[in-house]
Amino acid sequence: MTSTPPDPAASAAELTPGNAVVPGAGSPGPIRTIAVSGASGKTGWRVVQEAIGRGLTVRALLRPGSAVPEGLAGAEILRLELSDAAALRQALQGCQALVIATGARPSIDLLGPLKVDALAVRDQVAACQAVELRRVVLVSALCSGRWLHPLNLFEMILVWKGLGERWLAESNLDWTVVRPGGLKETEADLDREGIRFSGAGGQESGSLSRRLVARVCLDALATPASIRRIVEITSSPEQPQQGLQAWS
Ligand SMILES: NC(=O)c1ccc[n+]([C@@H]2O[C@H](COP(=O)([O-])OP(=O)(O)OC[C@H]3O[C@@H](n4cnc5c(N)ncnc54)[C@H](OP(=O)(O)O)[C@@H]3O)[C@@H](O)[C@H]2O)c1
Repeated sequence: MTSTPPDPAASAAELTPGNAVVPGAGSPGPIRTIAVSGASGKTGWRVVQEAIGRGLTVRALLRPGSAVPEGLAGAEILRLELSDAAALRQALQGCQALVIATGARPSIDLLGPLKVDALAVRDQVAACQAVELRRVVLVSALCSGRWLHPLNLFEMILVWKGLGERWLAESNLDWTVVRPGGLKETEADLDREGIRFSGAGGQESGSLSRRLVARVCLDALATPASIRRIVEITSSPEQPQQGLQAWS
């Protein structure tokens, strides 16, 4: 770890078409087209928007009944159930990376977090392996995998998130798990926020804007050193400015 100041311009430039050589170990080439699952969600549409802003082609994966946020403008929208293996494989065909931004919505379905945060991640890992899409970034959460935590009152969500992470980590894919703290909708004064990065178990509380989470997911695609790593993130104005590349 170093405290070298970040160079956001450098990381953005690495993702522009023609200069997008950000291969993971064993990756077949540059990342030009990415898929984003959970793209109708509040983090997902920001991942899509940030990716388009960095010159990538984006496939937004939505459920058949998902609402389409305005932030998906410019993306190709594909509707499917993640449990439909054939449809998922087809949706991922030709993509060089997948950002998983799905997450269980509050619901009367007590199995929601199990289905979305564990089983749907496993389905996506299997589909990536089937189409040889190697690079995957998973949006998880701080304290993922913990049994004793108040958030587990929501149907043991941290346990299921931990299982989803484990299935991804046990795969042969080039994965990065991004574990944010509490997510905020704010878009104001983000340039004053410094991101605190840590490895697994390094942080237990804190929050940050979904916009910053989206940027870190895209930065991860441009940072081979983030492959096979868990990256925990929160932000505050007191935190020195540092990018993922410098941290990792
Ligand atoms: N809220 C927090 O403070 C917090 C903190 C740390 C981490 N996280 C995690 O960060 C991630 C993003 O959170 P967010 O609040 O931005 O998400 P969000 O707005 O709640 O969006 C969730 C996304 O997941 C999709 N989804 C839900 N169930 C699905 C299913 N069965 N099959 C396919 N897609 C499904 C939703 O689709 P629809 O639009 O069709 O419902 C939506 O696109 C989640 O994993 C969340 O658990 C959240």
